[in-house]
Amino acid sequence: MSDPLKVGVVISGRGSNLQALLDACNAAGFPADIVLVISNNPDVEGLRRAERAGVATETINHRDFDDRQSFERALTASMERAGAEIICHAGFMRIVTAEYLAHWHDRLINIHPSLLPAFPGLDTHQRALDAGVKLHGCTVHYVREEVDVGPIIGQAAVPVLDDDSEESLAARVLGAEHQLYPLCLKLVAEGRVKVEGDTATIKSAEGADSQILLSPAH
Ligand code: GAR
Repeated sequence: MSDPLKVGVVISGRGSNLQALLDACNAAGFPADIVLVISNNPDVEGLRRAERAGVATETINHRDFDDRQSFERALTASMERAGAEIICHAGFMRIVTAEYLAHWHDRLINIHPSLLPAFPGLDTHQRALDAGVKLHGCTVHYVREEVDVGPIIGQAAVPVLDDDSEESLAARVLGAEHQLYPLCLKLVAEGRVKVEGDTATIKSAEGADSQILLSPAH
């Protein structure tokens, strides 16, 4: 078996998706390993989760830098020192520049709490309720310059119930996120995701190329 893919995770806060990735990477035979967790905010729960899992952490506070590029260069330098081959944004709430994107091109993935291209940006759950959609969910995708755009690796859908509040819907989606992100990281680490232009295709375990529908049940 080849060496596990070395993954760096970037967070801004609570880190529940980071926890799902830590738990997955901890399981025997998982094809990825988290080598460093960086937060742009100090003293957040996500950093404590990484420490509890015995994973190296750093705080790189964007407020300490003159501009986005110098913040991102510090982030990239730390990730490279740690040997990260791929970066997962997990609740990282900063817009990134073209320079950072070019450096990590097709090596940078993100989780977003909606079924993209619906509801990019913030407040996705309230906007889904306001729009009256009956299905909502989450997306894991490669990051491109436009916010919340990029080749989609996987999506998980959940129902929107008539009596949902923003909180109840967010909780249902978050449960799906925690299943989807490790699954997508596994596919990437196994080299089964092929990016061509604006789309990503998943190679099935048997060797045939196929688009697969990911659901939390997988
Ligand atoms: C998650 O719902 C994630 O999808 C979202 O922030 C939350 C972070 O929670 N990310 C974005 O909105 C990115 N635009 P977590 O820190 O508990 O993983």
